[in-house]
Amino acid sequence: MCGIVGYIGKQKALPIIFDGIKALEYRGYDSAGAAVIGDGSVFCKKAVGKISVLEADLADADIPGSVGIAHSRWATHGVVTESNAHPHHDCEKNIWLVHNGIIENYKELKNALIGRGHKFVSETDTEVVAHLIEESRSQNLESRSLEDSVRLAVAQIKGTYGFAILDKREPEKLIAVRNFSPLILGIGDGEYFIASDASAVLKHTRNIIYLNDGEIAVLTKGGYKISDFGNKIIERAPSVIDWTAEEAQKGGYQHFMLKEIFEQPEAIENSIRGRLLVEEGAARLGGLAEVEQKLRDMKRLFIVACGTAYLAGRIGEYMLEEYAGIPVEVDLASEFRYRKPVFKEGDVVLAISQSGETADTLAALREAKQKGVLVLGIVNVVGSTIARETEAGVYQHIGPEIGVASTKAFTSQAMILALWTLLLGRQRNMSVETGKEIAEEIQKLPDLIRQILKQSESVKAIAKKYNRYENFLYLGRKYNLPTAMEGALKLKEISYVHAEGCGAGEMKHGPIAMIDENFPSVFIALKDSVYEKVISNIQEIKARGGPVIAVATEGDKEIREYADDVIFVPKTLEMLSPILAALPLQLFAYYFAAERGCDVDKPRNLAKSVTVE
Ligand code: G6P
Repeated sequence: MCGIVGYIGKQKALPIIFDGIKALEYRGYDSAGAAVIGDGSVFCKKAVGKISVLEADLADADIPGSVGIAHSRWATHGVVTESNAHPHHDCEKNIWLVHNGIIENYKELKNALIGRGHKFVSETDTEVVAHLIEESRSQNLESRSLEDSVRLAVAQIKGTYGFAILDKREPEKLIAVRNFSPLILGIGDGEYFIASDASAVLKHTRNIIYLNDGEIAVLTKGGYKISDFGNKIIERAPSVIDWTAEEAQKGGYQHFMLKEIFEQPEAIENSIRGRLLVEEGAARLGGLAEVEQKLRDMKRLFIVACGTAYLAGRIGEYMLEEYAGIPVEVDLASEFRYRKPVFKEGDVVLAISQSGETADTLAALREAKQKGVLVLGIVNVVGSTIARETEAGVYQHIGPEIGVASTKAFTSQAMILALWTLLLGRQRNMSVETGKEIAEEIQKLPDLIRQILKQSESVKAIAKKYNRYENFLYLGRKYNLPTAMEGALKLKEISYVHAEGCGAGEMKHGPIAMIDENFPSVFIALKDSVYEKVISNIQEIKARGGPVIAVATEGDKEIREYADDVIFVPKTLEMLSPILAALPLQLFAYYFAAERGCDVDKPRNLAKSVTVE
């Protein structure tokens, strides 16, 4: 998730675009860059690290030019280096662009462009677009404008993108393109802005136009024009926004956590993009290609992780054992090396970590590495320590997670483990039919998540109703035991009430002793292979006067007989059901804590990334 800014107007562009990308730093940063057209040439500067590093580099520079673009990068493809930082350019350094998103078919396009003589200087997916525009322009330079060339280029790319583009040969023009990545125009007085969100331009204007997917905007010093990809002109008046910069960063949500909960349909789409082979009933995980044979030879998998990532790993255990027939052990990273694990030939260790910096997870993987075991990763932050120290792995591609309580990282990790299951299962005994069934269900998940999110108001009402209670028991079974534990973790970490996750079958061996009318239980009671057992457990709780909230499968009419309150989720395959059932639990925890006035994004005593043991 990168930040983009563009400026065209009367003032010097550089200070304005710097200021803009600093406001977008919350979107993640590992490197930054800017390009400005002035005096017939393009000035470009990039630096690895925080935006302030780049700013310090340019402290004494007085760069003329009132048209410019800037970018703060949060790597998805290619390691963090200056050459991978944006802006990117074509062979002749005429066309410069910044990009937020992922070009899915960049590999094919890049190979073809190289074949036609184009020279690439970065490992990014973005650079192909500069070369595609160059190619379109060079085919008919006399009559073809930058705008036409951009249109021809975007027709060839698949994926998500927000672009800001300039061309030295048309120095009084800036182009913005949007497809599934946020992009706004700021409309000032004789000056115009492009940005990933309004926080980048609020100092200069409050008149904002939200671009829609499939739209191109051409900005000049005299005005702007918006059209769709088919070149149909679109008239859209600016909206006047009265948000503060911080509110704009949160996209209108009260907290980053809520924003991240609502980002999950796109997060899941990004995690599966280009990786799911529905027709073949398989998954293609490019990051694991180098270790394919070692994965075929794998006899046992150890998953090591902390917190929410550990619970995602526990879901993976059920998936991989049921569908790929691989014995899996899931360990808390903080315990792993102290229990002196005994490794055998064919053992593989998988570290799961959103940040890629958690000290215990890192220590566990180093321990395994030292013993000669193959260590792989599922990590969100590209180029993080765990990503670098694992031999191979899969990135989550979900953008930065800012709320301390992990939400979109959890569902994405479970999603990627489902892709691992397809990959490893098909290497072993999984039939094409089973693979296809799983792949088809995976494809539906983003829309099913959207359906669940539509019920947020009713979850909020339930969270209000239960707000006075100080203790909660979360119960689930099989695939949804880890989901229950994650639901309890979410509630306790952000609202500080006592919440315990427990196997529904294990409840009668202790936790049930706590139950009375002041101790509600939250059940994950889906119509799956353990439904009847879980219904019996609900009855056992009801018999002791405990209030019950159930997360149930849509269409389950019976459940209302047993539970006091029900939140429905759509039906999916049992192995994928935690990815849906987690959503109501995240929303419940969020609204519960918000109702109590807790600092949801920064809960007391907790850190987003725990880099000490
Ligand atoms: C901290 C965070 C959790 C997270 C855990 C593991 O405790 O508060 O939300 O699940 O670390 O973090 P990682 O970055 O390794 O996934």
